[in-house]
Order: sequence, then structure tokens, then C-alpha cells
Amino acid sequence: MRIAVYPGSFDPITNGHLDIIERASRVFDKVVVGVLKNNSKKPKFSAEKRVEFIERVTSHLDNVETDSFEGLLVDFAKAQNASVIIKGLRTVNDFEYEFQMALLNKALDSECETMFMMTNSKYSYISSSMVNELAGFKGDLSGLVPAEIIDDIKAKYE
Ligand code: COA
Repeated sequence: MRIAVYPGSFDPITNGHLDIIERASRVFDKVVVGVLKNNSKKPKFSAEKRVEFIERVTSHLDNVETDSFEGLLVDFAKAQNASVIIKGLRTVNDFEYEFQMALLNKALDSECETMFMMTNSKYSYISSSMVNELAGFKGDLSGLVPAEIIDDIKAKYE
């Protein structure tokens, strides 16, 4: 069974992330979305909430699971029996950082393969911090994040 891990902070999940998850779920037998619990970005939403949002918007995908993790990504991937790490690339700006991370993860675990998926061009400008900034200004989030979580994001900024 080919298992892939799709890691990130998902603070919150966007339509760009969901597009990658849907496409990865067609390529791999199982996809585990890994939510980084404590990262330096000081998340707006708790890890539990971020996991719950992802579970809600991926409920139509039978082979997708979501879990949170702390520590090294390669250790989380190993614990999930995953041989592949999936990352989305939006623009060339993402490349240098992702390239470095992929090499570092390879150095930490030589069996760990990172595979990149090009983000759907419709979503290449979306990021979680943009979503949070827009929500803070009471902007329209439709089209940026899945409809099922819009009210919860708005409520956070009320
Ligand atoms: N569509 C929309 N937005 C996307 C996207 C897509 N397809 N892919 C990425 N993004 C956005 C994210 O929302 C995020 O936006 P933000 O900066 O506004 O929050 C940004 O692009 C960066 O995303 P990503 O590269 O996935 O980084 P991340 O911070 O969400 O997650 C981890 C990074 C979890 C993969 C990484 O920190 C990690 O592996 N940590 C564990 C520790 C470790 O093993 N470190 C390496 C060895 S020291």
C-alpha cells in the first residue's frame, strides 16, 4: 500500500490545500494530512480545530486521514508507514525553500521521498495568512476556503 503524508500548518486549510489533497488521494492508496501542532508561526487556530476543519472538508474522500504531529516530519511519516511526502508548489518563490526542506528530509531519512504537485493555477495566490488577514478585515472568503468552514473562520474574527 502506497501511503503519502501531506504536511503543513493548515491555519486554516484553503481551497489550494484541498485541491492538492484531492489530487493526491487519486494517486496514492492513502493520504495522511499531517497538521504541525506547535510551529514558530503562532497559529491562529488550535491544532484540534485545524484537524477538525480538514476532517470536515475531506469527509468525501475515503482514503484521506488527518492527524496532528509535533517534532520531525520524517518521524511522523515513518510512524504513518508513509514512503512519500507530498508538497504543493505555488510559485517559483516556493521552490528554493521546498528544495532545501526536501534535501534535509532526505538527509534525515534516505528512504523518504518528497514529491511536488503544482498547485492549481486558480489557487496559486492563496495562502493561509492571506485568508486570516482578509477575515480580519471582514472580507469575502468564498472561493478561497471550503464553504463548510467559512462561518467558523468568520466567528473567530467577530
Ligand atoms: N494552496 C494554498 N496555499 C498553500 C499551498 C497550496 N497548495 N501550499 C502551501 N500553501 C501556503 C500555506 O498556507 C502556508 O501559508 P502561510 O505561510 O500563509 O501560513 C505557506 O504556503 C507555506 O506552506 P508550507 O510550505 O506547507 O509550510 P507550513 O508552514 O504550512 O508547513 C511543514 C511546514 C510542517 C511542512 C514544516 O515546517 C515541517 O516539516 N515541520 C516539522 C519539523 C521538521 O521536520 N523540520 C525539518 C527538519 S529541521
